[in-house]
Amino acid sequence: MLKKISVLDVRLGMFINELCGNWIDHPFWKKSFELDSEKDLHALKTCGIKEVWIDLSKGLDVEPEPSPESDEKKPPDTLPEAAKSDKKQEQQIALHQEMPRAQKLQAKAKRTVAFVFREARMGNALQSAEAVELVDEITQSVSRNSVALLNMSRLKSKDDHIYLHSVAVSALMIALGRQLGVESGTLKSLGMAGLLHDVGKVMIPDTILNKRGKLTPDEFEIVKTHSRRGWDILKSDPNVDEIGLDVCLHHHERWDGSGYPDKLSGETLSLYARMATVCDVYDALTSDCSYRKAFSPADAIRKMTEMQAVHFDKVVFHAFVKTVGIYPSGTLVKLKSGRLAVVADQSAKSLLTPVVKVFFSTKANEPIFPALVDLSKVPDPIASVEDPAKWKFDLKTMVGI
Ligand SMILES: [Fe+2]
Ligand SMILES: [Fe+2]
Repeated sequence: MLKKISVLDVRLGMFINELCGNWIDHPFWKKSFELDSEKDLHALKTCGIKEVWIDLSKGLDVEPEPSPESDEKKPPDTLPEAAKSDKKQEQQIALHQEMPRAQKLQAKAKRTVAFVFREARMGNALQSAEAVELVDEITQSVSRNSVALLNMSRLKSKDDHIYLHSVAVSALMIALGRQLGVESGTLKSLGMAGLLHDVGKVMIPDTILNKRGKLTPDEFEIVKTHSRRGWDILKSDPNVDEIGLDVCLHHHERWDGSGYPDKLSGETLSLYARMATVCDVYDALTSDCSYRKAFSPADAIRKMTEMQAVHFDKVVFHAFVKTVGIYPSGTLVKLKSGRLAVVADQSAKSLLTPVVKVFFSTKANEPIFPALVDLSKVPDPIASVEDPAKWKFDLKTMVGI
């Protein structure tokens, strides 16, 4: 029996009957074959093919979906189908163990990116060796725990916004690359690409970049030049490879061709550029900007779900949701017990049962002793996502948990 499945669900032991897409897009010369090597599995997941036909009479089926434990644990209807299954990579260490290191790394990263951008602004050679060393450390941090550095990077102020946005996009690209099964050497290229994708902004006047309120059409046209100007800065640097150049030039392209600068669409965009568009928009939405407050991480995912058909590659977006979670770290939630909590870490077991930090009882209307609770082990499901503004809590001071 033949079955069409997402390439994200492919696993060893399956019999691939047919790859969907143009043969020229993938590295396999055979039409049908048994998937029995890690090398082929990796090649299949990263070649840009989105769906395959498998033959169930000759090989394994997809792994069964985890069965929901109760109605309250069902994800909201608006979320993508793929987000309902959970194959998130296990964290190597707990969030609270990585946070002190992530804190130090973030401070160092901010200084390094500021230095690299400042030198570029002055027209000096790109200090890319500094960036290479930093990307190594970001990659290691994300490998130990994929959300610690991201939690830190959400705490941006206006002055350090561009630097911490670069660090966040770098960490997101690495985390998403791991989710997609990208090999470790390429992860570093993704990290470098994320770190330098907006370097062209050093050529845009501060009066425009820091303007309060919306830009005029003319000002927006000037901002739009940053991707090509960034490419110009990076093009002759020995530490920036094709992935870095491509991501810099095309991180504002859109799936439907409505982006810039080249109006590329669909699969004419590289996988890496498609990854960058998702990571870039997520970090932009979860950050304050001159004309609106930051979306909560959960609201950003909801917003991006609405934007998905126009803006993003569906497979890449679904992998991204698996990376950051349906309830990303930093989301304020109310549990069925009436306790308020902030999502602290993702659970290896399910996207629906993250680790949270409870801190307030809505029944008693008073704070409670803060404690980490793993919802995959405690029967107190998330009842709703709450607006921090409504409760007047400053979650920014609570993210470092
Ligand atoms: Fe940009
Ligand atoms: Fe950006």
